[in-house]
Amino acid sequence: MPDMLRLASHDGALLGAQPTPADAALAVRGMTVSYGQKPALFSVDATFPSGVMSAIIGPNGAGKSTFLKAALGLIPMVSGEVRFFGLPLAQARSRIAYVPQRASVDWDFPTTVIDVVLMGRYRRLGLLRRVGRADLALAQEALARVGMEGFAHRQIGQLSGGQQQRVFLARALAQQGDLYLLDEPFAGVDAATEAAIIEVLKALKAAGKTVIAVHHDLSTVADYFDHVFLVNVRAMAQGPVASAFTTAALSQTYGGRLGAGQLDQLHPAKG
Ligand SMILES: Nc1ncnc2c1ncn2[C@@H]1O[C@H](COP(=O)(O)OP(=O)(O)OP(=O)(O)O)[C@@H](O)[C@H]1O
Ligand SMILES: [Mg+2]
Repeated sequence: MPDMLRLASHDGALLGAQPTPADAALAVRGMTVSYGQKPALFSVDATFPSGVMSAIIGPNGAGKSTFLKAALGLIPMVSGEVRFFGLPLAQARSRIAYVPQRASVDWDFPTTVIDVVLMGRYRRLGLLRRVGRADLALAQEALARVGMEGFAHRQIGQLSGGQQQRVFLARALAQQGDLYLLDEPFAGVDAATEAAIIEVLKALKAAGKTVIAVHHDLSTVADYFDHVFLVNVRAMAQGPVASAFTTAALSQTYGGRLGAGQLDQLHPAKG
């Protein structure tokens, strides 16, 4: 039996309603990633159902960004297996849109907003076709969806942090993928931008798309997300918010770095 199938039936018995790797938007098995001696992620299994919004949660340095980058093949794994919609990355790449953590982007790069959004079209275009009128229209529509239509010809470095975040979301939208991987989409944005972004993400879900976002604000997890994956080097807990986002799982993941008061305010599922 192929490895992925064997693991799927094993998980099915353990976790009940967890999706099998074949119908999950993203399924990771045994992912270990190391930058030096100490692994940043160790033997991580994680399954993200398709058609819902999932949060990746864990403290600073837990390996959340590393998890997304390794799944996307941007950094190497020591070991592990990754499937998107049951397929290896190479066969699913055009269906995946990725918005990196804002701090990791070089904002001094001299390029305009519309060019950044058009980058979302390049994979569809391939190397030989030129950007056409339809691509431009799609890029402009994506900017309008995030409320940035008036900024098309502005230099990206001349935008505020929240505006830059919206432009990167527009680039992901222009890609017209099925799976959106977002690394801290709400970091450093104001309440209005956060509301605008969550509206866009909910519309994606309503259209049958899958959203997986690294998320830090524990107080909004239950409002925004259907499914959670708690990680701190190792996979700590995962499943529907109602059953997996528990006080016990949170204190284990944060290793006592959250006070009882903070945990009480969250009203996560009992556990
Ligand atoms: N390029 C790198 N070289 C060496 N170590 C790295 C590198 N990138 C990340 N690390 C280390 O790997 C660990 C995980 O980092 P990662 O960026 O994945 O954490 P994170 O969960 O995304 O944290 P944050 O919430 O701060 O964004 C950290 O200990 C970090 O210092
Ligand atoms: Mg990170």
